Formats: sequence, C-alpha cells, structure tokens
Amino acid sequence: MSAYRLTILPGDGTGPEVIKEAEKLLNCIENHTELVFDRTIIPCGGQHWLETGEEWPAGSFEHCRDNSDAILLGAIGWPGANLPNGDLAGGQVILGLRSGLNLYANVRPIKLYEGVKHKIHDNFTQVWSPTNVDLLVLRENTEGLYHSLLRRSSLRAQGIEPEEVEEMEFGGIEGEVAWDARPISENGSKKIIRLGFEYAKRRNGSPSTGESTVTCVDKSNVTRGCQLFRRVFHEVGEEYPGIGKDAAYIDAFTMWMVRNPEWFDVVVTSNMFGDIVTDLGSVLQGGMGMAASANLGDEHGLFEPVHGSSPKYAGKGKVNPIATINSVQMMIEWLGMRHDDEEAIQVSELIERAVSEHLQDGSILTYDLGGKASTSDVGSSIVERLSKLLESQQAHSV
Ligand code: IPM
Ligand code: MN
Repeated sequence: MSAYRLTILPGDGTGPEVIKEAEKLLNCIENHTELVFDRTIIPCGGQHWLETGEEWPAGSFEHCRDNSDAILLGAIGWPGANLPNGDLAGGQVILGLRSGLNLYANVRPIKLYEGVKHKIHDNFTQVWSPTNVDLLVLRENTEGLYHSLLRRSSLRAQGIEPEEVEEMEFGGIEGEVAWDARPISENGSKKIIRLGFEYAKRRNGSPSTGESTVTCVDKSNVTRGCQLFRRVFHEVGEEYPGIGKDAAYIDAFTMWMVRNPEWFDVVVTSNMFGDIVTDLGSVLQGGMGMAASANLGDEHGLFEPVHGSSPKYAGKGKVNPIATINSVQMMIEWLGMRHDDEEAIQVSELIERAVSEHLQDGSILTYDLGGKASTSDVGSSIVERLSKLLESQQAHSV
C-alpha cells in the first residue's frame, strides 16, 4: 500500500469547484486500488486574505515543504485582492512555493485530444487536429521578470518581511518609474534546458517529423538574459547528440506555434514568455479549461490547472474540470515515477484513458467545449469511466 501525503490548496474563485472534482477522482482511486492519499486541505488565496487578513495560516509553507509528497493547487488571484505594497494577495502561496521550494520547471503540455472542438476553424477544414498538436512547454519558473515578486513572496511565506527594491536611475526617462529586474542565470538556465532534453528523450518527437527536438524560445536578438539562455541551450545541447535543436525568437514563435504547431516537440523558455505562450497555446487544445501543469523541483512537485480563478464564473458550477483532472494525472504519474510505484503509474495511464474516451464520446461537456454540462457532471462522468476501467483491470489481474 502506498500512502501519499497530499496538501490541497483550493484557493480562489473557481479553484474550490475544480478541486472538488479532483477529490472525487482521488476517492475513486482509493476505492479501487491500494493507493491512499492522506489529505491536508489548507484555505488560502486572495479571498481568504480579504476575509482573514492572511494569505494562508501560519505554518502552511513549512507544511508544504516538510510534510507533503505532492501539492495540488486550484487557483490564486482575486480582483481587488492586493497587499498594501501592491503585490498579489495569495502570491505567498503560488509564487512563494514556486520560489521557496525551488520548483524551477513549469511543465505545461499542449495536446489536442480527439473529439475536442476548438474555437478557431476556417471555411474548409479544422486548422488543428489531434495529429498536429502535441507539444510540451517548459517554462523557467524561479527567475526572469518574475524574480523580484517571487523573492518577496517566498520571504513572506517564510515569515520574513521583505525589504523593497532600491531606487535606480534610468537615463533619459522622466518622472516616476517602476521596474522589475529580469535576472537569468547560467545555473537556472541549465536546469530547465537539461530537463527539456530529458523530456524529449521520452516523448514521440514532433508530430510533423517524429524526430525528438528541443526548441529554445527567447529574444536573444535584444536581451542579454536571453543571450545567456541561448548560449546555455547550445552548450547543454551538445550533451544530447541524438536530439534535434532548434531556436526561435518569441515573437516569431507565437506565430509559428499557432500556424504550424506540428513542428514542435519540447519548447524551453524563460518565465514570462512561458506564461504568455501557454495561455495562447491553450487555444490549440480547446482552451484554458484543458490546460494542465506541473511545477517541479528536485524535491517537490506542485500541480495546478493553468486557468486561474476565473472570477466571472466563480460559484456557477460551469467551468471545465479537465485541466485539474489532467493535473492530478500528472501528479500521480510523477509520484509513481519518483517512488517506483507501478500501480500509481498504471492509474495515471487509466486517468488519461478515461479523459480521452470521455472527450471522444463528447456528450457531456462544459460550455467552453460547446456543451451544456456542469463542472460536476463532467467530473462525475470521468470518475465513472475511471472506476469502470479500474474495475476491469482488477478483474484481469485476479
Ligand atoms: C500562471 C498564473 C500565475 C503566473 C499568476 C497567478 C501569478 O498566470 O500560473 O500562469 O503568472 O505565473
Ligand atoms: Mn499565466
């Protein structure tokens, strides 16, 4: 029996709604397998801050650091919830954990499932099909333009009041100036880029050629940080002679990703570029309701849907829980690989199958995929499929 200590952070807006569906899935897995998830649920986020004056209870960061095998997050962020210094209330949770637990890789698959209708079509054919959208974006997660906010958030999470950044002179610019440094380090770049090549070894290559390729996305014609990132890309690339190397500037890349997603296999990029291209990339897979993610370090993993708290839909039971269900799939696969747990790996494969069959069937979908079903209808339907798959697997193994 494997018991995993799971910390659940439902957070803001639609976060708790999608986390509820994740919990149904976990219950189903516990009922049908030897896996056990010892759960600690911690209230947190911008709304929690507005109600209580704290972003999460004292000791939560330490709990995530010292007593969790994995962390599952719903969403953080609420309109008007900003700390007196202007920082995002709840930042201590999402950014404090990314920085404080050194979750340097934000792993964001962009995969279009069979049966999913996306929102862009042309007159004669669908622009994208499941056979041409299957890329993986690796977003550097602890440096870049986010660095100053990440650092303040993680200090706060550890109970240290961060000092403000010092003033700097900007020649030629008049009046008040706000600025964020964008440090990109050789070591930080090496870690994310190396991980990119490791993922490329395990994947099926780009849909267009089947060849394993890592694409470095940067703006090295303009910024020094990107020049360092690109240099490290070429250096690390030499350690992987069997894997193709490709590079693109971020502006051109956004165009190519939409026009020819089949060219791409694994993409490595810096923090802010990764944030932006994964929202854009979600359109290729049916929208933000389909975009799952993992924040990984060497010691810790935090899993979350990419969509955020969607205040407009909060409390309505309308949003798509699949991004969260797929994040749980990534979490169980990661736990399985990390702990050499064959059963967890099998369960993660069955979750993937249940989601894939659910989408092919296409009869119970939320509004974003053209349906009318509720968050909980979709969650229950996937859980029912998973439960049948787990039952039939058990029957075979007896
Ligand atoms: C994301 C979100 C976060 C980010 C916000 C909530 C700070 O947009 O996970 O992509 O910018 O990283
Ligand atoms: Mn984002």
